[in-house]
Amino acid sequence: MLRVGTFLVAALLAIWVSAAKAADASVGWYTKDQARAGKKLYMQHCLSCHPAGYFGPVFKAWKGERLASLYTVMAEGMPESNPGGLDREVYTQVLAYILKDVGYPRGEQPLEPGSDRFMRLVIE
Ligand code: HEC
Repeated sequence: MLRVGTFLVAALLAIWVSAAKAADASVGWYTKDQARAGKKLYMQHCLSCHPAGYFGPVFKAWKGERLASLYTVMAEGMPESNPGGLDREVYTQVLAYILKDVGYPRGEQPLEPGSDRFMRLVIE
């Protein structure tokens, strides 16, 4: 009886965990439009110093950190030639493009720095 109970708990836990993962992936981190707009802005403001492929290793190094921290680094310190000099919207869209480039899922909800959801995003 005890074994059946343990098995059931384990099975339910497995279902719950996979449902939670699926929910995350289906929500996505940014919208298609944000990433599309961000690509142009990235080429304009970042590409000269950060060529294609630059952010893959950066995200590996930041694994386990909050996305909000990486956002602060870029929004306050970049571009190096004009730190914090771009609009908030520009940084948001550029970050959406970077997320797309390194392989994060897109979805219906926009990336929105400062929102509760944004504060919970952790680089994986
Ligand atoms: C004039 C050159 C220049 C431009 C333009 C520039 N950056 Fe940077 N960026 C740097 C340098 C230099 C560093 C520090 C690199 C290092 O520490 O290895 C850096 C570091 C970063 C980091 C931290 C990386 C890490 O390893 O933690 C981020 C994020 C970043 N840049 C994002 C951006 C974004 C987004 C843009 C465009 C809005 C941008 N940068 C434009 C020169 C630039």
